[in-house]
Amino acid sequence: MTQALAHPNIALVKYWGKQDRAGNMPATPNLSITLSELCAKTRVSDSDQFEFQLNGQVVDDSKVKTLVDSMTQEFNLPPMRIESSNNFPTSAGLASSAAGFAALVTAIDAHCQLGMNQALRSEWARRGSASAARSVCGGFVALVPPDWQAQSLAPSKHWPLEVVIAITSHDAKGVSSTDGMERSRLTSPFYNQWVRSAGDDYAEASVAIAERDFAQLASVAELSCLKMHSLMLTSRPALSYWTPASLACMDRVRELRNSGEAVFFTIDAGPQIKAVCLPESADQVAKALADVPGVREILRCPLGEGARVIDD
Ligand code: PMV
Repeated sequence: MTQALAHPNIALVKYWGKQDRAGNMPATPNLSITLSELCAKTRVSDSDQFEFQLNGQVVDDSKVKTLVDSMTQEFNLPPMRIESSNNFPTSAGLASSAAGFAALVTAIDAHCQLGMNQALRSEWARRGSASAARSVCGGFVALVPPDWQAQSLAPSKHWPLEVVIAITSHDAKGVSSTDGMERSRLTSPFYNQWVRSAGDDYAEASVAIAERDFAQLASVAELSCLKMHSLMLTSRPALSYWTPASLACMDRVRELRNSGEAVFFTIDAGPQIKAVCLPESADQVAKALADVPGVREILRCPLGEGARVIDD
């Protein structure tokens, strides 16, 4: 039995839309921070047949099955039992699949002694879920052409940001990211402009991170997030992942920033708000978001490390 752990990551320059070819490659360069505290743990053990359990229940997950089948074929692997668990809500816009696939590939690599390097683990994780490619690395992470294997831009200690997550709903999302982004690609009138402008957003965010320029990172990260949600809203039929509390939290973050706190928001395909802050603003931000009507829970995560094998 071998066990691996990975954390979710939160994109600051978003990925929403795939290339029209095999390999599950994003259409645009994207960039994320890996969190600590939240984690997916995945155990791999030998078995007579493939079995996948999530949080103690046997589940029929076609993405997991497809990835394990491809790895089995590529590396001639024996059947395996895979048991995964998350210490945070699954499929609710908290990047559970990113953490899950990064942990899965890391556990299979170690259990079957495949000897993959980080880039190759990232590539296989990407085949499961493109954002999972980034959870293989810690700190500040880029997923860019031509290889689309995630690379570390800077370790977490380069700039110890903290993420305050306001949970506004524990429900699983109605439309998966894969289906949603395909709908946007095919129907949003703004999709081509999104693809054309992503390189500039990526370049601006990487400079902001290198220079630890919080105001510049805040500006480009909120822009990228709201462009992605504009694509969602202008898809046909429209995709809307926000609750009234998500909107109230965005307003609260803007008010906090106007009153001098170092904070910006980002939101993925779900209703949770991720408020990225400098550590000195985190207590104030957590307190303010906890008071927003409709916020059910606050989680706090400093930046974390990449996927790794752990002892039982
Ligand atoms: O990798 P997927 O299929 O879970 O898609 C991730 C999409 C977003 O989380 C909304 C954006 C991103 O870059 O993580």
